[in-house]
This record gives sequence, C-alpha cells and structure tokens, in this order.
Amino acid sequence: LNNGLALTPPMGWMSWQRFRCLTDCNLYPDECISDKLFRNMADLMSSEGYLEAGYEYLIIDDCWLEKERDENGRLQPDHKRFPYGIKNLSDYIHSKGLKFGIYEDYGTHTCAGYPGILGHLEVDANTFAEWGVDYIKIDGCYADFDDYEKGYTEFGQYLNKTNRPIVYSCSWPAYLESNKIYANYAYLSEICNLWRNWGDIQDSYSSMSRITNWFSSNQDRLIPYAGPGHWNDPDMLLIGNYGLSIEQSRSQMAIWAILAAPLLMSVDFRTIAYEEKQILLNKEVIAINQDPLGMQGYLAKKKFDIEMWVRPITPVKSRAYSYAVAYRSMRDDGYPYAINVTLNELSLNHSKGYTVKNIFDNSWRENILQVDQSFIVRVKPSGVVLFKFTPN
Ligand code: DGJ
Repeated sequence: LNNGLALTPPMGWMSWQRFRCLTDCNLYPDECISDKLFRNMADLMSSEGYLEAGYEYLIIDDCWLEKERDENGRLQPDHKRFPYGIKNLSDYIHSKGLKFGIYEDYGTHTCAGYPGILGHLEVDANTFAEWGVDYIKIDGCYADFDDYEKGYTEFGQYLNKTNRPIVYSCSWPAYLESNKIYANYAYLSEICNLWRNWGDIQDSYSSMSRITNWFSSNQDRLIPYAGPGHWNDPDMLLIGNYGLSIEQSRSQMAIWAILAAPLLMSVDFRTIAYEEKQILLNKEVIAINQDPLGMQGYLAKKKFDIEMWVRPITPVKSRAYSYAVAYRSMRDDGYPYAINVTLNELSLNHSKGYTVKNIFDNSWRENILQVDQSFIVRVKPSGVVLFKFTPN
C-alpha cells in the first residue's frame, strides 16, 4: 500500500501469542488483557531499549472489546478491564514515544467472539482515527471468503479518508491459504501494508518450522510482492517465551530477518531472560531485517539437513549486492554439525570476493572469502549461523 508507511517491515509488540484471550483478571491479575497490562508493557518497551532498537508499535490484539456496541453503534472497550477508555490508553502509549496499534475483524465477530466491523466500516475507521490508532490489524474470522477483497478494500478507503497515517495489516490471505486457496498478492500489495499469509504461530519450534517450511515451499509466489510499503507476515516472534531454546530463538530471529518479516514480539517484558532480550535487541540482525532495499530472501539450498537462506541487502558495490546468509540446522544429532560450503554454490559470484561478518559469534576469524574458496561452518542442533557478506 502506497501510503508512505511501513517502508521497512513494521517492528513492535503484539499481545496475542503470549497473552491470548486472558480476560479473567481474578485468575490472571498481571496477564489479563487490560489497561494495566498495556501500560506495563509500554513502560518497559520504552525504558528497556526496545523502542531505541526500532520496536515502535504496541499493538492490542483480540479480546479488548465489550460484547456489544454502545448506544450510538460505536465500538467500546470492556469497561472493567479498560476503565479509562482507549483514547486515554493511546495517549499514555504515545507519551512513551511509542505508536499505538489495535485489532479488529472484518466479519460479524472477531475470532474470539467480540463484535466485528462488518456493517460499520466507516464509523469504525473514524473511531480508530479518533483514538489515535497508528496501526490496525484486521482479522478474517466470521466472514465470507468471497467478500474479503471488496470488504478490505472498502475499509482501507475509509481509513485513508480519516487522513490519519495508519499501517494496515490484513489477515485474509491466511484464511484462504490455510484452505489451500491462492491469495492475490499483487492486489494485496496495493491495498495493505502487510498481510498474514498462513496459520497462527504457537509457542514451539515445530510450529515455527511449519511456518518456515510453508514460506520456502511457496517462496516463488510470495517474494515478488514484498517490498517497501507491503510485506508478507509469517506471524509473531516467539523469543523470550516458553517454547524456543536460545539456539532456536536465534534461528527465528535470523530467518525472520532474511524473510523481511515484520518483527512483532509477543513476550512479557517483566520476565524475559537477559540472553533472549539480547537476541531481540541485536542491532546487526535488526539491520538485516530493516534493510532499505526491502527484498525478501529465500531458501537457496539444503544439504545434510542444513538449510541455506539468502537475502540480498545493502551496501551494493559496483552492482554487486551484499548478502545475509543463514545456515540453519534442521538436525537434532547432538553436536554442532560441520558443513563444507562455498559462496558460489549460493550464486554469490562477485569476482573480488566478499568480506565476512558473523552476526552472532564474534570469535569468527575468517575475514575475506573468495567465491570458490570452501570453508567450514559448524551449526548447532536446531541453531543457526548468520553471516553478512559484503562485496570487496
Ligand atoms: C487469529 C489471528 O491469526 C491471531 O493472530 C489472533 O489475532 C487471533 N485470531 C485472535 O482471535
């Protein structure tokens, strides 16, 4: 969508993966979807270095609404859990230097059963703008598949009419593709800033790997439509939660960087471990993700169950790209597997060779590589080695 927004993949935090639809504030006083939770997260997002690293959108996912609209037909938040209203919360989030995002659903109901926007598109777009919303995720539950294109287009027009810059995230392709129906990405890239392509991520490495497998299997259809203003979205980062080891967390961060994926954390900033936080805040991997060319990378090759993911990035020197390359192990046989590789097998062919930077490991000694020179990479089980290669 050419609205001047999301020129690099959006970065932020979203409540769903970690906090789901926890609405029982007696049972889950510190984790329930509430004003208090979002203020807590906003405080830490801005004080703990996340905002400074580029994570700017704080996004409320499902389960914030009252079950009915108000007497004027407007959306209203759950009064117990959001006693000061959404505008007040949005002002607070903005006062922390963050941007504010929220969730709704194109259909009659949200996936969790709260009122959807169908039949109220214009008034709801205006409400969001009045509340100071900077990012909106529109889900696709309880809607007719045949209405998606027209409906999401119409809602986008109402957003545009508000004159407020609002990043528009569209979930409808996830519903089509999960039912093996191809989405029209050329059209999506014109009307949305990002779109969920496929099923939800769950807190496990197997869930993450199912998503990366789907992305690599469908990469030829997806890659052409990623770029500044329009992105494929493999779903939230799991890092800092329960399901990924440290190695697997690096793997998700590296592959999401190669995929030019939105970096949407979904973690409790109050309890995240130091090492996991360092992965989320790693400047070099973020720079790869945010590379201004906005080219989505791809799975180039797989040998001995080591996947080789490649993304062209800046700087571009005498028409040769730099590259981010991730060697990702799908192995589980204990030791860091040694694989013999070359650059030209990945079509990195610059005649003067490349200067190497190992992003997660400062002890790497090799500095310059010729394209036909073989070198050994050792990849830990379900881990990753991420390089940046700059042409000499
Ligand atoms: C389905 C979406 O894909 C999830 O990310 C989340 O928004 C839930 N719906 C909320 O109900």
